Amino acid sequence: MEKSSDVWSSGYVTDLEYTHGFYRELEPGYLCYASLLAGYLPPDTDSPFTYCELGCGNALSTNIIASAWPQGAFYGIDFNPSHIVNGALLSKAAGLTNLTLIEADFRDLNTHELPDFDFITIHGVLSWINADNRKAIQNFIRKKLKPGGVLYMSYNCLPGWAATMPVRELMKRFADDTYGATLDKVSVALTSIEKAFAVQSGFFNNNAAAESRFNQIKTADKHYLAHEYFNRDWQPFYFSDIAEEFSNAKVSFIGSAELFDPYLNLYTNESARQMIATAKNAAMKETLKDYFLNRMFRKDLFMRGANRLTHREQTAKISRLPFALMVPKTAVTLTMKFSFGEAQGKEAFYGPVIDALAEKSMTVGELCARPALAGKNPADIIQALSILTASGQVSLAGVKESNKKSVAKMNQAILDRAVQAADISYMVSPLLRTGISVPWFKQLLFRASRLRQKPEDYVWEILQAMGQRLQADGKPILDPEKNKEEIRLKMAEFVNVDLPHLRGLGVE
Ligand SMILES: C[S@@+](CC[C@H](N)C(=O)[O-])C[C@H]1O[C@@H](n2cnc3c(N)ncnc32)[C@H](O)[C@@H]1O
Repeated sequence: MEKSSDVWSSGYVTDLEYTHGFYRELEPGYLCYASLLAGYLPPDTDSPFTYCELGCGNALSTNIIASAWPQGAFYGIDFNPSHIVNGALLSKAAGLTNLTLIEADFRDLNTHELPDFDFITIHGVLSWINADNRKAIQNFIRKKLKPGGVLYMSYNCLPGWAATMPVRELMKRFADDTYGATLDKVSVALTSIEKAFAVQSGFFNNNAAAESRFNQIKTADKHYLAHEYFNRDWQPFYFSDIAEEFSNAKVSFIGSAELFDPYLNLYTNESARQMIATAKNAAMKETLKDYFLNRMFRKDLFMRGANRLTHREQTAKISRLPFALMVPKTAVTLTMKFSFGEAQGKEAFYGPVIDALAEKSMTVGELCARPALAGKNPADIIQALSILTASGQVSLAGVKESNKKSVAKMNQAILDRAVQAADISYMVSPLLRTGISVPWFKQLLFRASRLRQKPEDYVWEILQAMGQRLQADGKPILDPEKNKEEIRLKMAEFVNVDLPHLRGLGVE
């Protein structure tokens, strides 16, 4: 029998809410930088602008971004009413006036009054919906993205998923064969696939890549797994198929939102670079990169009526943008991990850049004027900043302070939520105008320090009320006094390392 939710869900998982993730690729400053790096003029974000996220989930990203960009009018759309309720509760608690969350199916978007948009973002959606829904999204973009507007889309891609596609297929079949709620189906499917690999026969004996991928999959959060692998629709795409389909929406591909992408020598050898250089068009170059990277997930930028910048215009625009350290200086590492593996930054070059950013946010122009970087080519500094940004250690920064009030309210709402639920691991920096990682436990320490409470009493009371314990060697610490001792130690570290860093980022 069809479940009642099947009628509106098109087979998308709806009995389990999605996780509360923040994705910085969705942030307008990041999208503008990625567009500039690709050589195209992005929308002006100093003046009022409009932004829409399709399939916004619990809308944590749009909430955070709307608080950091009060000059933007933000819209988040999702067909799962629970997601919209969750997002609206946070938005109300933070007193946001520039975020509208709408419960709607992609196929019904034309029944809603919406403005034209400077940005449309679709993160982690395309591979999990059917062709009808993709078509509805294309029609929406065709109608609603302004000329010069940016479209960001991420999706599972080929060839990276080729080895694991049969595992997903079998997981889904085991799940469909199980009676019960989605979480039970996920558990049964995981156990069954584990058993199948243990048989070591045929496919399960010859696919080391699939097995190692499954070993990662099985440890992930089950709510995430439900949405990632157990929808009726699940399809990784070749880049060229997506580019061709979305040409119907009058947009063209301009580049990747992966900021390491333009720096081929990070992830290809000389022969691969030659093949890419001699490829006849952009689609072929992207396809070759996907094969050389064995890429599983693409983060694509498209534009409607793309305005190509000259090299001089591009360098001049990028040189005016300020950058700041996103993590404490002591936590910066030059051995950077990316989806393609590790990259090592040269200390002699990256060191002075990091020293400078540890003092304050700086533009490329200001960095070039530092004695330690005198005579350096701005393009090399831009490369270092882009790679550090791609590794999550540096971020674009803002120059205006107009977001201080709205960000402070959002951070208060997040800290207030931390005493009820442990599901948000981010706060907002008014300086970076984006979400920053502040795990739930640190949020409790932050509350204790703001309220000038004794951390071991204050935090321990909350942990007890929420049935939580600190852990040592992966096991919960049962003795209350040992929990309190651990809280004291963690608070000392928080006060010495995290708090000064957070204050530097404007998170008071
Ligand atoms: C994997 S989640 C991604 C959520 C969010 N973009 C993120 O990355 O955290 C996909 C989202 O698309 C929504 N969705 C799926 N099909 C939809 C449809 N036909 N109309 C509107 N939303 C849909 C789901 O409810 C879910 O919240």
